[in-house]
Amino acid sequence: MRRQLVIGNWKMNGSTIANQQWVSQFLGLWQGVHRAEVAVAPPVVFLPQLAELLSRSDVALAAQDLSSHAKPGAYTGEVSGAMLADCDCRYVIIGHSERRSYHLESNRLVAEKVIAAFDSGLVPVLCVGESLEQRESGSTLSVIEAQMRAVLDCLDAEQLKGLVVAYEPVWAIGTGKTASPEQAQEVHRFVRATLGEAGSTVRILYGGSVKASSADALFAQEDIDGALVGGAALDAEEFHRICQSAD
Ligand code: PGA
Repeated sequence: MRRQLVIGNWKMNGSTIANQQWVSQFLGLWQGVHRAEVAVAPPVVFLPQLAELLSRSDVALAAQDLSSHAKPGAYTGEVSGAMLADCDCRYVIIGHSERRSYHLESNRLVAEKVIAAFDSGLVPVLCVGESLEQRESGSTLSVIEAQMRAVLDCLDAEQLKGLVVAYEPVWAIGTGKTASPEQAQEVHRFVRATLGEAGSTVRILYGGSVKASSADALFAQEDIDGALVGGAALDAEEFHRICQSAD
């Protein structure tokens, strides 16, 4: 059985006061023992604050990115996997489409970051997804395959089992357009097949305008093991309803 996982990606949002309010509201609702696992990914400067606020809860911490450089050194602005692990992070999002497009991250750099994450004991959440143009030209699966292959070819069998994948169609991110559960399921099944044997245990999350109202139908799909939630994760109540669906 794969344990459902819901990660809230706060992107560049938050403040010390707003974070405190969010956590107190969310933890007030998310009580007891849960089957689903929940994590939040705040901007990196807030990780120590969130680590403290979440320390007595079952909510894990995730980072939104990491440096491909493992060793400390002269890399201005970079944050290493070891530093994130030191701040109690369990997960790190890698290759988000916003980083691939605004920061020109290549498949190769994404693969290096996945390895850096494993080397620091973090669980990489590898994001893959096609643009609208690619979907309309019928190349969705070949784009996903290239994004997956670049990473899978660099991993050994043990690492492969520890990977989390997030399928996020670029046209659905922040646009209010969710992929239909059937569209998502088709790609999730394909991603699972590309993982080979590890496919039976690797969790594949869906991301792209997930809301409380769309979560149930998405999570009912055989190969959808949770969600990577952006906009709807900023509202503690809405995010809680998504987590409840997964639970
Ligand atoms: P969204 O973002 O839920 O706001 O579409 C998802 C993501 O970018 O991870």
